[in-house]
Amino acid sequence: MTLLVYGAYGYTGELVAEEAIERGLDPVLGGRNATKLDRVGARLDCETRTFRVADAARELDDVDVVLNCAGPFVETAEPFADACIDAGADYLDVTGEIPVFESLARRDGDATEAGVAVLPGVGFDVVPTDCLAAHLAGRLPDATHLSLGFEPHGGLSPGTAATVLGQLGDGGAIRRDGRLVSVPPGHRQRRIDFGNGERSAVTIPWGDVSTAYRSTGIPNVDAYVPMPKNARRAMRAARYLGPVLSADPVSDALQSLARRFVSGPDEAERDAGRAYVWGEVRNEETGESAVSRLVTPETYALTVDAATTAAERALDGDAPPGYQTPSTAYGADFVLELDDVTRTDD
Ligand SMILES: NC(=O)c1ccc[n+]([C@@H]2O[C@H](COP(=O)([O-])OP(=O)(O)OC[C@H]3O[C@@H](n4cnc5c(N)ncnc54)[C@H](OP(=O)(O)O)[C@@H]3O)[C@@H](O)[C@H]2O)c1
Repeated sequence: MTLLVYGAYGYTGELVAEEAIERGLDPVLGGRNATKLDRVGARLDCETRTFRVADAARELDDVDVVLNCAGPFVETAEPFADACIDAGADYLDVTGEIPVFESLARRDGDATEAGVAVLPGVGFDVVPTDCLAAHLAGRLPDATHLSLGFEPHGGLSPGTAATVLGQLGDGGAIRRDGRLVSVPPGHRQRRIDFGNGERSAVTIPWGDVSTAYRSTGIPNVDAYVPMPKNARRAMRAARYLGPVLSADPVSDALQSLARRFVSGPDEAERDAGRAYVWGEVRNEETGESAVSRLVTPETYALTVDAATTAAERALDGDAPPGYQTPSTAYGADFVLELDDVTRTDD
C-alpha cells in the first residue's frame, strides 16, 4: 500500500512526512517545486514526485492514499480529490476551510460509487472538535444546538496565518436550522471555560460549522475562540473593512506578508504547548444540556499525529467510501487514539 504526502516541503507536510517515516509507512513525497522537494526527499531518503495539482491524475496509478498538506486548500483540494476519485485512491487533507468542506461534500456520490474515501480536515481543525461533537450528540441525542470552541497555546505556522488572513474579509459563518449563514466576524460573544479558566469568546468561521452538522445532524452550530478585548474591537472594525480586506490585491499582500514574517512553532513549543477544546449541546425546548472537554497537545503536534494516524487507518482499509468527517470515518473516540488526549464530561 502506497501513501503520497503532497506539500511535503511545507511546514506541516514535512513534519507529517517525518512522522509517516517514523511509523514505517514509507511515503512517497510530492510537491510542485523540484528544488524544495528534492531537498526534503534527500534528507528523509524518500522517493519524490514533482507535479502540479492539475496534473495529479497522471501520478496516482500506484497510490492508495493521498494526504494533501498543500494549502490554502481552496486552490488544491477539489482538483486533487477529483483525481483521487478517478484513480481509486482515498483523499485526505488538513483543511479547515468551510468552502472546501462544502465543495468536497458535493463529491459524496462520485466518491461512494468509486469506493473512495474523501476525508478532509484530519488536522487540529477539525479532528478534536468533530469527535467531541459526535460524543456530545451521543450524550444528548435530541439536541437542537451545538457550540464548540478551543483555546490554543503555541505559535502560528506561515500557511495557517496566510489562510486565516486570506479569509478575513469573508466574514463569519454559523449554521442555523441546517443552513450555512454568513454573519459578521465575532457575531456572537459569550463567557466560556474551555478548560483553563473562563474567557470572553467570540464566534469564528471554524470548519465545524460545515462538518459537525454532517457528523451529528444537529441543525444549529457555532464555534468560538477566546479573544482579548482589543482584538474583539478589531474584529468589529473588520465588519466594515470586509470588502477592502477581501479585495484580491489586499488579500494577496496580507498572505505574502504572513508567509514572510510568521514562522511556525519550534519543536520545544510543539512539545510544551496544550490546547483546550470545549463543546456544549442543548435542547432549546426541554432546557437539557451537556458539556464535554478535551485537553490535547499543541495544535500542530496534534495535527501531525491526527493526520498521520488517519492516513495509516486509510492504508489499513478503515476509511469508508464517500465523503467523510473524522468522526463518521473513525468514530467519536478516534481523538482518544492520539497521544496525550484526555476527555472529561460535566
Ligand atoms: N487542519 C489544521 O488544523 C491545520 C494544521 C496545520 C496546517 N493547516 C493548513 O495546512 C496548510 C499548510 O500549512 P503550513 O503551515 O504547512 O504552510 P506552508 O509552510 O506555507 O506550506 C504550504 C505548502 O503548500 C504548498 N502549496 C501552496 N499552494 C499550492 C498549490 N496551489 N499547489 C501546490 N502546492 C501548493 C506550498 O508549496 P510552495 O512553496 O511551492 O508554494 C507548501 O509546500 C494551510 O492551509 C494551513 O491552514 C491546517
